[in-house]
Amino acid sequence: ESLALMPTLDLSPRRTQDRASVLEIAADVGFDNEADTDPSLAANRDWGRRVLERSADSRLGAGSIASALVTDAETLDQRIALAAHRGAEWGSTPGAERARLLHDAGDVLAAFRGRLVEVMASEAGKTIAEADVEVSEAVDFAHYYAERAAELDAIDEAVFVPSRVTVVTPPWNFPVAIPAGSVLAALAAGSAVIIKPAPQAKRSGAVMVEALWEAGVPRDLVTLVDIEEGDLGRRLVTHPDVDRVILTGGWETAELFRSWRPDLDLHAETSGKNAIIVTPSADLDLAAADVVRSAFGHAGQKCSAASLVILVGSVGRSERFRRQLVDSVRTLRVGYPQDATSIMGPLIEPPRGKLLRGLTELGDGEEWLVEPQRLDETGRLWSPGVRTGVRPGSEFHRTEYFGPILGVMTARDLDEAIALQNGTEYGLTAGIHSLDPAEVAQWIDGVEAGNLYVNRGITGAIVQRQPFGGWKRSTVGTGTKAGGPNYVLTLGEWSPVEREP
Ligand code: SER
Repeated sequence: ESLALMPTLDLSPRRTQDRASVLEIAADVGFDNEADTDPSLAANRDWGRRVLERSADSRLGAGSIASALVTDAETLDQRIALAAHRGAEWGSTPGAERARLLHDAGDVLAAFRGRLVEVMASEAGKTIAEADVEVSEAVDFAHYYAERAAELDAIDEAVFVPSRVTVVTPPWNFPVAIPAGSVLAALAAGSAVIIKPAPQAKRSGAVMVEALWEAGVPRDLVTLVDIEEGDLGRRLVTHPDVDRVILTGGWETAELFRSWRPDLDLHAETSGKNAIIVTPSADLDLAAADVVRSAFGHAGQKCSAASLVILVGSVGRSERFRRQLVDSVRTLRVGYPQDATSIMGPLIEPPRGKLLRGLTELGDGEEWLVEPQRLDETGRLWSPGVRTGVRPGSEFHRTEYFGPILGVMTARDLDEAIALQNGTEYGLTAGIHSLDPAEVAQWIDGVEAGNLYVNRGITGAIVQRQPFGGWKRSTVGTGTKAGGPNYVLTLGEWSPVEREP
């Protein structure tokens, strides 16, 4: 059997799942992933053009976000109280009933595909292809967690006790799929939700919430609040009626929440510094394409993005691999999403701090294979960059940049490559390109990351097939994987069943 066809497995060493149980889960879940829009069909390309035209001056979601604005503690407390009341009611409905509403939510999210793509292109600079897969993922979360909600009723060893209020604080880089996943999981677990969208992507979150409301989710069961991140943010996270926070964002934010409330039940997916190893046995054409897609999709603004490629032995000296990498990076079409030919879109905002340094400064021994360029006066549009000669332990080796720059490292052998891949504080995604089963087995034993991908890019985890979650500093708190079998089970308390003697 060709390893190129091997499914990517959820093999995080920290988790309890072993290979066999993951395959079993994959086999017996009655769930189909939502299809992405196929751009090879002319009708779909026309649809995409219409969506992008509208995105040029979109007001989508503006109404809901305006009414979500909360500027004082009293109003915030009122919203939390309403949510707590509704949460208590929702938590006592049978799982099967919750499942029905989640299924409907999935169907409405699918029907909202055009509007969701439009608002993500308009507000977050997502290209149509990147936004489209995000809608599919949101739909998948609804249908997948619906099944998990229904299962809760059937567990008879213990009773699941839902929380009343879950706070969801999503990031701007996946402004639909990640909040949708967190909100839908909490709903499946019988909790009300207060969602505070990221400041850079409020309207996208608002349109996602509008889809849920349209599906019949009561407005005080999923409440949008637009608050400043200072005192009101702290009040929200530390409010006694809030049982849990689901955060996707920086590791520092998770630590801040923890410092505000040490006993907080926090489910946080945080930063990453991810690498793909390429060994001499790899299909080098496939490896180059997967590295480029993983590094520069959404301009590298993904926690899962490839920030490093580690070339083993002769690959490091391979002129062919170097040329393929350089040529495909140089020819990536960079532009705003409204131009349907753009492959790589803009940054969310002009780069500052470490990202600006990463785009403009080289470390000791490094040189540009492709030097990034600022392409327009907004400062948001940059061409992608590749630097080579990244040294072990250097700033580039260890820092998460969240932008369109890739570093190349070399290793004598696979052991050394794995050590370099593990040589950061984070452990979110990791990849290997190798057609040698012994190498893949060695890598699986040694690598420290939550999501491992073999002969595939390292972004774009698919619900149920690649449950998503990190290791080391890429996760804080209760760490079951999103889009996997155990996630909903950890969003409540379990109490023992009283049995007759
Ligand atoms: N789930 C996303 C991915 O896999 C990252 O948040 O790329």
